[in-house]
Amino acid sequence: MTERLFEEKQHASLYQKYRFDPPDELKDLIIQYLDKKKGKPHQLAVDLGCGTGQNSRSLTKYFEQVVGIDVSESQVAEARAVSGFPNLSYRVGTAEELPFPDGSVDLLTAASAAHWFDAERFIKEAIRVLKPRGCLALFGYGDSMDIHFESCGDRLNNIYEDVKQILLPYTSSKVNVANSKLKDLFEAIPFPDKERIEIIPVKLQLSIKAVIGYFETFSMYQAYLRADPSAATALLERTTSRESPAEELPFEDGSVDLVTAMSAFHWFDHSRFLQEAHRVLKPHGCLAVLNYTMDMELSYRDCSENLNHICNEFYAALRPFRNPYLGSSSFELYKKTYDSLQYPVKEWQDIFWVKKTVALSGYVGMVESFSAFQALLKKDPEEARRLSQDIEQRLLRAMGATSSETEVIMGVKYFYFLACKPEND
Ligand SMILES: C[S@@+](CC[C@H](N)C(=O)[O-])C[C@H]1O[C@@H](n2cnc3c(N)ncnc32)[C@H](O)[C@@H]1O
Repeated sequence: MTERLFEEKQHASLYQKYRFDPPDELKDLIIQYLDKKKGKPHQLAVDLGCGTGQNSRSLTKYFEQVVGIDVSESQVAEARAVSGFPNLSYRVGTAEELPFPDGSVDLLTAASAAHWFDAERFIKEAIRVLKPRGCLALFGYGDSMDIHFESCGDRLNNIYEDVKQILLPYTSSKVNVANSKLKDLFEAIPFPDKERIEIIPVKLQLSIKAVIGYFETFSMYQAYLRADPSAATALLERTTSRESPAEELPFEDGSVDLVTAMSAFHWFDHSRFLQEAHRVLKPHGCLAVLNYTMDMELSYRDCSENLNHICNEFYAALRPFRNPYLGSSSFELYKKTYDSLQYPVKEWQDIFWVKKTVALSGYVGMVESFSAFQALLKKDPEEARRLSQDIEQRLLRAMGATSSETEVIMGVKYFYFLACKPEND
């Protein structure tokens, strides 16, 4: 029996939006195969499990007539809503019982769909409707997707693996048929002349929003959504915010009230981020970009001056390890950015002291979390550890204390700018 996992309207509209068109390499390969094996005329192509019609539409320029067939009414309704293809029609129906006379079809395709079919009945039906020397093209992409983005491809792929693991209990066994690249189905096709290609590498450039939208189209995600709507929604939100570059925000135009970046803007592609923040902010929405300087100050009884002298040595030792992308001063970068910001309503604050009581070890840990310290740690772990232990010991001696849990007052100098997106822009 056909598994009905694609029935819902909302799932069909995600399909229309986020499923990929078949790549040109694949289309060319199929048409060339048909030309070689059967030759012209190309009268009728039938696209089985057509979903929202991406593959069906792509066949229209090669055939007099294309028919898309899908068991899901919602998918077919979405497919029909795309106009502009006069030689394309759709029918609700199954791949195992086709509404065509014997020997009438030149090409039968199934894009990411054949794994759902009842293999035996489908093959029988394909043999019946195909013309002599007519062709069958079954293809898909299984789960073999590799995500690349600058140097963080591995991290992104791990996130994709995490999503797959969470969805595993909701994954139909039919998906394994797709992941096996339809091996058994291929073997079961009784045509003497057949070919199986296991990999056609295709690269697509997608936004994070499109990647998440694609995950959302998975039948297992939809099954998870039915079983536990709030957990499924949270999974997508979590996955989006785990890895979404600030320059490519997964939000609609004019949909965000406040965009903040704390100790982060200096790492961004500054102008692309500002453009993106502008895009997503509502009119009168605000931008708050904040940072603090590395040279935090310590106060402890009457020895604060001494302590800050030692702290400054700590900062000076780390300065050569500052990432060159950050330039010599993030303060200047923020100020320059503020000055060039075109919003008429904006304000700049160049010192905003925040004082808090922390254990001395907390202060040292804070400096250790800075990227400059982390760079030194990577380059020379022993030297990094020696430096922070030495500084901590000297601070303790200057304080006349013995425990690194002794509390000090740490003063942090924040600076920031706030800006409000104009109404008419
Ligand atoms: C993963 S979707 C692929 C849709 C489209 N071909 C694409 O590439 O985006 C699989 C589609 O196959 C349809 N389907 C599943 N079993 C079917 C069957 N036995 N006969 C016809 N369609 C079927 C589903 O309703 C769904 O729309």
